[in-house]
Amino acid sequence: TITPVILCGGSGTRMWPLSRGGYPKQFLSLYGDESLLQQTATRLKGLPDVAAPLLISNNDQRFLVAEQLRAVGVNKAKIVLEPVGRNTAPAVAAAAVIALENNPDAVLMVLPSDHVIVHSDVFQRLVLQAAVVAEQGKLVTFGISPTEPNTGYGYIRVGKKLFESDTSYEVAEFVEKPNAERAAEFLATGEYYWNSGMFIFRADLYLQELAKFQPKMLEQVKLAVNASKRDLDFVRLDSEAFSACPSDSIDYAVMEQTDHAAVIVAAGLGWNDIGSWTALSEVSPSDEHGNNLVGDVMVEGVSNSYIRSENRMIAALGVDNLVIVETADAILVAHKDRVQDVKNIVNRLQAAG
Ligand code: GDD
Ligand code: MG
Repeated sequence: TITPVILCGGSGTRMWPLSRGGYPKQFLSLYGDESLLQQTATRLKGLPDVAAPLLISNNDQRFLVAEQLRAVGVNKAKIVLEPVGRNTAPAVAAAAVIALENNPDAVLMVLPSDHVIVHSDVFQRLVLQAAVVAEQGKLVTFGISPTEPNTGYGYIRVGKKLFESDTSYEVAEFVEKPNAERAAEFLATGEYYWNSGMFIFRADLYLQELAKFQPKMLEQVKLAVNASKRDLDFVRLDSEAFSACPSDSIDYAVMEQTDHAAVIVAAGLGWNDIGSWTALSEVSPSDEHGNNLVGDVMVEGVSNSYIRSENRMIAALGVDNLVIVETADAILVAHKDRVQDVKNIVNRLQAAG
């Protein structure tokens, strides 16, 4: 059996004004009617031999998580709550310890809750392929063909082929978030893939590697799980133990260090981690002028623009390459080349209180 582990603790700001501190992007319906979290959970439906998911989130978002899962018929999820965020390595470790309580052979499928995957059928096929590789003692990642020297990703250099007949390889090198210069070098070699942020591995192998590279982290996570408390459907990790846990991502803490990493080349997923409004516009359905119009929007002579209305009608005339997002209390109007700078606006708002 595969146990999905859905990571739902991030607090993105790049999709402002739709995403807010207490309402990050995984809870938004950015692509289709369901939220990104709901799509992450329902994307698994129909896969054979998959256990109820473990969701790792935090106290502030617990009812939002529970409600969104219930709305799409995912009723048996176990929702684990972190008293404080310690990044993804401890979150996955807590999931591994909990999964092993029920099944010493548990295989975890780690899934970020805030990505778009257009083709669920391809995703399901890759999961089954990866589970086979994971059973053979590998920490399996999915490699995405890079299109730009983006410094927000992990870069994976492929090594030896694992099986003659398919697209799984040993990982020769894993470099998390290289600087711009290295990212450009990696891209130029043609030997690197982006890490998609999804992983499949045996829970015991992950903990074994953590014991090697981050023993203190493992110790604190075990204490936090052992002293955890059940509250309704939630499992609360012990606050004192988890707060004393070092903070690090799975990529730095384990994937860069391990000798057991494998990568499956994941072509055709339609994967996008929605790092900006333009990233979302690239995967959204568009009209014949390259516009993505969401909600009550009327345009004339407009091209290559993402325009989204939540409440009031938007009318646009003779503009191009714009992002316009209207919400109840804020409106963003930006040139497509400047959407990365939305974070500047968020910072200024935070500074102003
Ligand atoms: N529960 C919990 N607790 N979840 C967390 C925490 C935490 O402390 N921190 C982050 N998450 C969740 C986020 O919500 C997201 O779904 C996922 O874990 C990944 O975290 P990010 O913070 O978004 O990571 P990243 O985007 O910088 O980098 C990762 O993803 C890239 C692909 O999108 C890495 O795995 C990169 O190597 C990868 O290329
Ligand atoms: Mg991310």
